[in-house]
Amino acid sequence: MSGRLSLKYEAYGKENGKGMAKGKSTIVFFCQNCGYESGKWMGQCPGCREWNTLVEETVVSGGQGKRAKMQAGERRKPSVLSEISLEEEDRLTTSIKELDRVLGGGLVRGSLTLVGGDPGIGKSTLLLQVCRLLALNEREVLYVSGEESLKQIKLRANRIGEFNGHMKLLCETNLNAIEEGIRNAKPDVVVIDSIQTMYHEAVSSAPGSVSQVREATGVLLQLAKGLNISIFIVGHVTKEGTVAGPRVLEHMVDTVLYFEGDRHASYRILRGVKNRFGSTNEIGVFEMASDGLREVANPSEFMLSGKPKEASGSVVACSMEGTRPMLIEIQALVCHSNFGIPRRQTTGTDYNRVNLLMAVLEKRLGLQLGNCDAYVNIAGGMRIQEPAIDLGIVMALVSSFKNRPIDDKLIVVGEVGLSGEVRGVSMMQARVQEAKKLGFTTCVIPKVSMETVKEISGIRVIGVESLGDVINLL
Ligand code: TYD
Ligand code: MG
Repeated sequence: MSGRLSLKYEAYGKENGKGMAKGKSTIVFFCQNCGYESGKWMGQCPGCREWNTLVEETVVSGGQGKRAKMQAGERRKPSVLSEISLEEEDRLTTSIKELDRVLGGGLVRGSLTLVGGDPGIGKSTLLLQVCRLLALNEREVLYVSGEESLKQIKLRANRIGEFNGHMKLLCETNLNAIEEGIRNAKPDVVVIDSIQTMYHEAVSSAPGSVSQVREATGVLLQLAKGLNISIFIVGHVTKEGTVAGPRVLEHMVDTVLYFEGDRHASYRILRGVKNRFGSTNEIGVFEMASDGLREVANPSEFMLSGKPKEASGSVVACSMEGTRPMLIEIQALVCHSNFGIPRRQTTGTDYNRVNLLMAVLEKRLGLQLGNCDAYVNIAGGMRIQEPAIDLGIVMALVSSFKNRPIDDKLIVVGEVGLSGEVRGVSMMQARVQEAKKLGFTTCVIPKVSMETVKEISGIRVIGVESLGDVINLL
């Protein structure tokens, strides 16, 4: 038995040794969605379960070895943690408050930030604006574009505003040339737009493939840490798998921000997905205008604009995005079903959650929803998963079912349990304050959360224990 085992290991070692021979190229299949690596082609990626995403790429083992050697050359000694000093300068403010918030209070020196998002969502626009403001604050900025020509960038820049002499442009896709450019220009901040257009000479596969994107990010990571400069990397997200998605680099970079939003709506949300220097719960809200992206300082107001008055099935709820309360309008439409199987549809919230809440309503309050179609929509195109909007969904459903409008100046917050009980939610005080700020006069909240709320003049807070209490209020 042991003989067989050792034989197996020997064979494994030999095979491995062959593959790792210096400068030898091997063929590897990479999932373009999640970066899963495999020796053979497969129809479905075992990593992310996506179909048809594995693509053949040639990997030269020499490139990686060189980097390992370089690291060994500059050996560092351990430092005492308590003796490391932090300078104020280590965080640069970008002068865009919404972005600073998502970054955790500003841009950290020597960090690598990935900005991902669908093509055309506004990544280049946002970063150009960041560059402009940093340059105005006397920072040296280098914007490297592999997608647009100098003239095209100038055209876009003209829409945004005046630029000063600290802002430099480079149109280049070869990483060696970019590295040289960065070493010569010695900037404080670099933008790479986009990582999928960059290529490294040592890697033979096409730009945008997993091995290219990884190698390029590896080089940029070394540059950022070595020269203590902050680098933004733009990464396109594509469903088709023709270019490697930013997900394959998430583990390499310090911060991952995703820019999302409805193409048809003008607002955009910048969401922190990973942040080594701050919280990941924060969001930044922007609006796309004719002169670039504008910050939306008060998203609640933005989300509630256009709310119908005296309409049944519409209620305002409050959700927390990080430390920030956001008021949203929940709309429900419940009507008699014409077919055997009732139709349920949700936009912006969890489908199964809505079904569950409808079952609770049916069982605990005896509402005959079994033969009704129901549509639930979060107005404005927001997507919310927080259970604190449960009570809002329930109120909207009941209001539509009974065709009874809810008071315009009322907001509801609370999680609903399977027994029809209303459960407590966190950060109640901030939510009530936001409601007060926007002119609401009544807050319906879970009874258990009552003690966490201090009295605020001008707003009445009502605690509820179960769905029965809520229906009595209507
Ligand atoms: P862009 O930043 O090029 O997107 P990405 O880099 O993420 O691919 O954004 C392009 C879109 O933004 C385009 O559809 C036009 C629009 N836009 C404006 O509406 N106003 C502006 O001032 C600018 C510069 C762009
Ligand atoms: Mg772009």
